[in-house]
Amino acid sequence: MAGFLFTIHNAIKKEHAMADLLRITAKNHPAGKGIVWESTDSQFLKTKIKLDTQPTEEICEGDVWQVQFLDKTDSKPSSPSVVTFRLVAKVRELKTWQKITTLEDFWTDPDDLQDILCWVNEGQDIILIGEAGSGKTTLPFALARALGWQEPYKVDVAMMKKAQDFFGKGGAADGKAFFAESPMMQYIRRAQIAYDNGIESHFVIILDELNRVHAHTGDGLHGLFDDTRQISIPTSEGGLVIKLPPNIHFFGTINQGGSYVGTFQMDQALKSRFAPIYVPAMPRDVEVRKLTKEVGVTEKEAGHIVDTARKLREACGAGQLEFAPDYRVCRSTAYLIKNGRPLRRSLIKGLLGWYNGRFELDHRGEIMDPNSELAKAYSAIRAIMAK
Ligand SMILES: Nc1ncnc2c1ncn2[C@@H]1O[C@H](COP(=O)(O)OP(=O)(O)OP(=O)(O)O)[C@@H](O)[C@H]1O
Ligand SMILES: [Mg+2]
Repeated sequence: MAGFLFTIHNAIKKEHAMADLLRITAKNHPAGKGIVWESTDSQFLKTKIKLDTQPTEEICEGDVWQVQFLDKTDSKPSSPSVVTFRLVAKVRELKTWQKITTLEDFWTDPDDLQDILCWVNEGQDIILIGEAGSGKTTLPFALARALGWQEPYKVDVAMMKKAQDFFGKGGAADGKAFFAESPMMQYIRRAQIAYDNGIESHFVIILDELNRVHAHTGDGLHGLFDDTRQISIPTSEGGLVIKLPPNIHFFGTINQGGSYVGTFQMDQALKSRFAPIYVPAMPRDVEVRKLTKEVGVTEKEAGHIVDTARKLREACGAGQLEFAPDYRVCRSTAYLIKNGRPLRRSLIKGLLGWYNGRFELDHRGEIMDPNSELAKAYSAIRAIMAK
């Protein structure tokens, strides 16, 4: 047999079972093969470091993570042993929440931000309510960055058919039942390990589009959001009791507005477990500056796009149109302008594509079918261009 294979993980496991978490640092591979990990712990200086699962966030050179030791394997005496770690918490400086007045790269109303910070500090879960594209999903990421917390984990609630789906999937292999934990469950485990090891960090789970929660799925989760912070779910292995550590915070998001029928489908019991915050759209000038900075169009061009979009949003709010172009739609319009496409054409192509009707102009330059939705939307562009 070429070489021999043995594991010494039991001995090491015992040694580390009660020990503090270790730290590893991300380095760029010298031959450009992505990220490699290094440990300064004397036991692991000459080992090859592996992670048990793929990180759920982007890792950059210089990032330091607290990790849990899982396993060490020596394959051949001549090659380095391989040690497996689980990423638990990225090392970040915790910020005092009372000192936070703005979020980087994200506009919020200053008073709303203070309310959110107070609630989050008290362990209150929050629901962000707002129009499509108003920044509901982005806000918890910006907040976690400002607080020096762990990057949030986002769950698309509409994908979950049963409460169990949030936590994992059962299966069977070699005649044995198993329960494969979901990424959200692995994230909860990270929070638990951090908490058990006295690491002062916080974890955020975003329940995205909670208004699209399937019937009964929401009921099954109630326990997680009340004072017990506990639920039990049936699994193929018999059952799993999940008790959340206090360093986990939930943000739900729900859409509100013209094109979203069925908003607030959540039942009373689920609603009352969360504190609601309305997320308003960015003010005009913030949106113009963001577009200028992100895409590279001029302020004047960005102004034309945003002013047109705002007119269309107003018309949608008043029930005259079915679609309100949000920041993302403005951005795709700006891409055309940035690449030299004519302004008027770019506004039409970028902002009007979702309205019913054919874009055919008569000899006066009016849309042929004046009663179409497109004709109403086109009048917004004409008004802006006339200025
Ligand atoms: N207040 C804001 N400050 C900075 N950027 C914002 C703000 N609001 C929205 N954006 C930008 O708009 C885009 C859409 O934001 P996001 O996806 O968070 O919106 P949303 O409310 O979750 O939308 P949806 O309802 O469609 O899920 C992102 O690129 C985000 O950066
Ligand atoms: Mg969203």
